[in-house]
Amino acid sequence: MKFINPKIVSTADGSESLYLPELDEHYHSHHGALQESMHVYIKAGLEHAVANGCSKPRVFELGLGTFLNTFITMAYAERKGVEISHYGIEKFPVEPESLKKMNYSMLPGLQDYSAFCSAIVDAGWDKEVEITPHFKLFKKYGDFLSFEHPSNSFDVFYFDAFGFRAQSEMWSEAVFKKCFEILAPGGILVTYASKGVARRTMESVGFKVERITGAPGKREMMRATKPL
Ligand SMILES: C[S@@+](CC[C@H](N)C(=O)[O-])C[C@H]1O[C@@H](n2cnc3c(N)ncnc32)[C@H](O)[C@@H]1O
Repeated sequence: MKFINPKIVSTADGSESLYLPELDEHYHSHHGALQESMHVYIKAGLEHAVANGCSKPRVFELGLGTFLNTFITMAYAERKGVEISHYGIEKFPVEPESLKKMNYSMLPGLQDYSAFCSAIVDAGWDKEVEITPHFKLFKKYGDFLSFEHPSNSFDVFYFDAFGFRAQSEMWSEAVFKKCFEILAPGGILVTYASKGVARRTMESVGFKVERITGAPGKREMMRATKPL
């Protein structure tokens, strides 16, 4: 497995993120990595699904990156006592030793779970690992563009690819069609993006798309639902 080593940078809420010079792209909003991830993926995604009756969410994450989304999903599972299975794919894994230098396990909400954050970083790839009594993780090393998976398998999809400018191929009809197929009916996809072209492409493959309030510093984000 080939690891990459992007530069560690600070964001405005005190949480760190990564910067990839090759694409001139940051992994999170400079307004705050933690507050963006909490807002987009936990509050608008996971919590919304649980509030709507999903009792054992099956989460899919496109782009594991720093594992910040994975950490806060694990912390949610433990805090709320909700059983979660989390399947994430990553094409360019980050060097584990660099990830351990980041300040995530000292952040509010994650401090109590720092040993489990390390277990997530160290977990083997391409197999399911039980990280905590409530949280199972499958880290898939691979390219979502050639990824194949049975249909109707997930309830919540964290769509966290790099932005349209850096990676327009990830915002294509073929990619959203795949997202739509692997989500179960009633399942939701959430993303930090709100670009009109992305919304129209999602609608063209069958999603019903809402634009909702974005994380601090961003006016809007999108939540897309696969109709029942
Ligand atoms: C915005 S970052 C994700 C941030 C991450 N969710 C986190 O919590 O730190 C985008 C991620 O998507 C990954 N990625 C890009 N293209 C991909 C592809 N075709 N298949 C799988 N992962 C991909 C990148 O390597 C990067 O880690």
